Amino acid sequence: MSEKNFYITTPIYYVNDIPHIGHAYTTIAADVMARYRRMTGYDVFFCTGTDEHGQKIQQSAEKKGLTAKELADKTMENFRKLWEVLNISNDDFIRTTEKRHEVVVQAIFKKLMEQGDIYKGTYEGWYCIPCETYVPESSMGEDKTCPDCGRPLQKMEEESYFFRASKYADQLLDYYEKNLKAIMPKSRYNEIVSFIKSGLRDQSVSRTTIKWGIPLPGDEKHVVYVWFDALINYLTACGYMSDPQKLEKYWPHVHHLVGKDIIRFHCVIWPIMLIALGLNPPVSVFAHGWWTVEGEKMSKSKGNVVDPFEMVKCYGVDPFRYFLLREVTFGLDGDFSEQAMVQRINSDLANDLGNLLNRTLQMVKNFRNGVIPSYTSFNAMDEDIKECIVSTFAQVEEHMSNFAYDEALKSIWGLIRQGNKYIDETMPWKLGKEGPEERLDTVLFVLAEILRATGLLITPVMPYAAQRLWQQMGLPGKPEDHSICGYVFGEFPAGIKTAKGDVLFPRIDLEKWKKEKAEREEKKNSMPDPGNHEEQILIDDFTKVELRVGQIVEVEDIPKARKLYKLLVDLGYEKRTIVSGIKEHFTKEELFGKRIVVVVNLKPVKLCGVESRGMLLASGPADKSTLALLTPDKNIPLGCRVS
Ligand code: MSP
Repeated sequence: MSEKNFYITTPIYYVNDIPHIGHAYTTIAADVMARYRRMTGYDVFFCTGTDEHGQKIQQSAEKKGLTAKELADKTMENFRKLWEVLNISNDDFIRTTEKRHEVVVQAIFKKLMEQGDIYKGTYEGWYCIPCETYVPESSMGEDKTCPDCGRPLQKMEEESYFFRASKYADQLLDYYEKNLKAIMPKSRYNEIVSFIKSGLRDQSVSRTTIKWGIPLPGDEKHVVYVWFDALINYLTACGYMSDPQKLEKYWPHVHHLVGKDIIRFHCVIWPIMLIALGLNPPVSVFAHGWWTVEGEKMSKSKGNVVDPFEMVKCYGVDPFRYFLLREVTFGLDGDFSEQAMVQRINSDLANDLGNLLNRTLQMVKNFRNGVIPSYTSFNAMDEDIKECIVSTFAQVEEHMSNFAYDEALKSIWGLIRQGNKYIDETMPWKLGKEGPEERLDTVLFVLAEILRATGLLITPVMPYAAQRLWQQMGLPGKPEDHSICGYVFGEFPAGIKTAKGDVLFPRIDLEKWKKEKAEREEKKNSMPDPGNHEEQILIDDFTKVELRVGQIVEVEDIPKARKLYKLLVDLGYEKRTIVSGIKEHFTKEELFGKRIVVVVNLKPVKLCGVESRGMLLASGPADKSTLALLTPDKNIPLGCRVS
């Protein structure tokens, strides 16, 4: 069996959210690696998918009035669609709600129980009931409150099954000592090794507090903990229990790409699960960094989540793929800005690459009727180019084997720039007029070679653009069907007719772009929050909400609360305190005396130590740039019901 097998995975994405650039980033990186390895002679298996169980999904579904499965079915489609749009060449797409996966998870759980690696015990911790989650003591707020919702936590004890992670810690350390590239980059390797050395605790791998999960074999009160379930996807997809040959072929060559936030699961728990199952730990786990957006953390509440569908629509799929991998060192955090993308499109793509192709084709057309001539002999300058091409292939291989996408692209652009310099120095336009003829032939041939090499090398990152370059050069077939390792300088099929077409990457006019971007943003901001506006409710559901007219009669700050005001609201029949997150939008003076609409039958909650008995109604665009209070347009008595 060939050793040139390669299995690459992305994390499987939660279906409680719509896809954003963070998701696109890992999947594009995995796709580029899969394409590159295919073109270097490997038999590749590339899998992505969705993580569909657990509390997060259950809660999101409840909020939207859907069952968890309905939500998963709906959201999963967004991921599938995005991978199509981004030209992702995955061989499989796994959903954790599929039967093929459920049986594997249950069988693994059972096996680990039988061999004594999973045992039943009690889990003790601080629990937030509304959020349905345990909060580690280190992240609890003052007065034992939940860091997410600010409400008081409760000490809870729950029956749980535990995985004996501690038992295998030494074996894992030994594996990491012998495999220095098993975790990349190096900083993450060091972080994980010292984490393991600091001592591992057994891991809770079941839940009784939620229903949405894979039932635990033999104890149906429990469902399997979502991470234990999710990690196993990598085995399910690789034929564990269903296709032993596939498993044998790809498992020893498995590489996981993940974000930095989920490395403990992938570099501690997962390899230990594999060791316990008698399987090899992953050959490598590469943890990439996180994208911020124009300097800020990406978040729904800030309204700055970058939509990859929109980016592709505005800039094209290949430039988007190129930008994400070129802009930032893989492994470090990076900042996304459309302006930076436009600059890269104009300089690297339109200018460097576009010009090289364009100038070459133009001269071939002008002086050789569009036909690539054959060479006679190479001089020192041509030999330099040959060397540059050969060393670019070697550098790209070196960088790709370290997942250094940006470095690989830098090397390719080194060659492209060298190509443009070669044109400036050899001056084929002059040779076209003054000769010698053979020298012009050779120069055009060398340029064709640079473009053939470039076409091959950019294919994994920009498959569509590479294909167009290939066609314009008159080369047969598709670049992706050619081997990158099979490239030999001098083998360009001279005599073929080129077909100069549209420019590869049109230059973006900055003034026009600025105007269009502003218009796009204005349109987006004026759109209502897409939230749940499609779901229908019955009138009975609506009348359950008791809305009444009130008047704000006092406004106070709450110590340490940046966004909250404590309001006293007069409802006619009583005055009550409401805590409201509107401080960033209104001064006290603006609020004082305002007539508002209040939800009066909301269960009281304590926020930052103050009990809030109701909620006022307000509205604003999705980006939260502005907020308006809902007020009655006539002076009606306080306490009137709103219906
Ligand atoms: N379901 C788990 C993974 C299970 S794998 C067995 C999960 N899903 S996720 O949808 O929340 O995140 C998936 C990936 O997106 C993670 O690798 C995460 O690092 C990545 N990103 C989320 N936001 C990101 C950025 N802002 N920037 C880059 N990647 C980020 O975790």
